[in-house]
Amino acid sequence: MTPPRKLHIKSYGCQMNVYDAQRMVDAMAADGFVETANADEADLVILNTCHIREKASEKVYSELGRLRVAREEAAREGRDMRIAVAGCVAQAEGDEIIRRAPVVDVVVGPQSYHHLPELLARAAKGGKAIETEFPAEDKFNFLPQPKSDAIRARGISAFVTVQEGCDKFCTFCVVPYTRGAEVSRPVAKIVEDVKRLADNGVRELTLIGQNVNAYHGEGPDGRPWPLGKLLHRLAEIPGIVRLRYSTSHPRDVEDSLIEAHRDLPALMPFVHLPVQSGSDRILAAMNRKHTAREYLEVVDRFRRVRQDIAFSSDFIVGFPGETEEDFSATLALVMQIGYAASYSFKYSPRPGTPAADMQEMVSAADMDERLVRLQDLIDSQQSAFNKATIGTTVDVLFERPARNPGQIVGRTAYLQPAHVMASPDIIGKVLPVRIDSLERYSLLGELVTTMPSQAAHAPSSQTTIGA
Ligand code: 5AD
Ligand code: SF4
Repeated sequence: MTPPRKLHIKSYGCQMNVYDAQRMVDAMAADGFVETANADEADLVILNTCHIREKASEKVYSELGRLRVAREEAAREGRDMRIAVAGCVAQAEGDEIIRRAPVVDVVVGPQSYHHLPELLARAAKGGKAIETEFPAEDKFNFLPQPKSDAIRARGISAFVTVQEGCDKFCTFCVVPYTRGAEVSRPVAKIVEDVKRLADNGVRELTLIGQNVNAYHGEGPDGRPWPLGKLLHRLAEIPGIVRLRYSTSHPRDVEDSLIEAHRDLPALMPFVHLPVQSGSDRILAAMNRKHTAREYLEVVDRFRRVRQDIAFSSDFIVGFPGETEEDFSATLALVMQIGYAASYSFKYSPRPGTPAADMQEMVSAADMDERLVRLQDLIDSQQSAFNKATIGTTVDVLFERPARNPGQIVGRTAYLQPAHVMASPDIIGKVLPVRIDSLERYSLLGELVTTMPSQAAHAPSSQTTIGA
């Protein structure tokens, strides 16, 4: 019997890339591949790439340089190593990748990776295989379902793509070009996937999409269902105790989503709602389609139905034309909202986007300085938010043994890691924990054992993509 071939996959960027990488592993498992953590011993290496900022994009080429050496080494040992580039750099750069890095055999975009086995077979006959079309067919109809043991190995928290692509065309963003137009998966298909996950131990779902709250997939009644209605349906699936979704655009927050936060205890009160800037002038130049005030109003709509709701956001500093006054408006908005967490980035011009042609570049020194000021403010808000949990009792969904022997780690509703000393049978359960202290970003506490917990069934109380 020949040993199984080995696949190494490295994913960059957002949660959807993590999810896509798992589906590629499932697709190649059906072709006899097993996953390895060591690229050097792999028969197939897939880089699942990110194009969102220049730094992310360039990482691919330095990794390909390393892989060229690994491939030569493998060849000396008589092994044939194949290399595929998938994801958004593949989509954006196509055959340019092979020109820059001839070591690559296959280039496959994010909408075509269900064709990976066939592209690899084509490349095995000599030559290169490239596919960066947006095929009319839905890749999810062709991808094999993950095996039970693969689901279990991935743990109790899973991502599920419900929507892909974006029609918003923010002027700085490559997503509408690399992921294509907005498409929503039908409710029945999502329900089928989630039942399978729940049957294999998954307890927490994060529904993902570049603009997830633009979801409008076909419901069983033949009509388009909004995200709020989909969440209601998924909350009915036995085993699912926590629901999340990411990433949302402030313009697409429908009342049904707000109502879902009001009505579904399983829907976590933590929303990633990127604003990018607090200046109306910059928001307009970014084509965000909302003002700072409109964003604050959306936040208020959520807060009115759930007082314990918290927010995270993405910010870009140094967008072309951003003045000190514009930047101050961003700081003012951050102060006004009070975020539990946030991600902030220096503006990076992306080829083919409208902002890349804008002339008024902010100097590197100003960008650096603004990023530090914004990150300091975000960090102080995050640590105040974390500190406020000390001395309180919070629900934690336990995920896995921690690094310290005897400790189990889980997450609160706000994705804060929480550690307790306990037996591993608490994994997969939501239990109340009294928080005693905070160590950097981790909460330390003790299980509250005096009352039998109902929490596993009705809890009382993530880098990002798109929007
Ligand atoms: N430069 C810097 N940051 C960007 N983002 C998207 N495009 C760019 C760019 N060109 C950020 C946005 C988005 C997050 C996923 O990445 O903040 O919300
Ligand atoms: Fe779409 Fe978000 Fe990119 Fe804007 S930033 S184009 S909403 S993915």
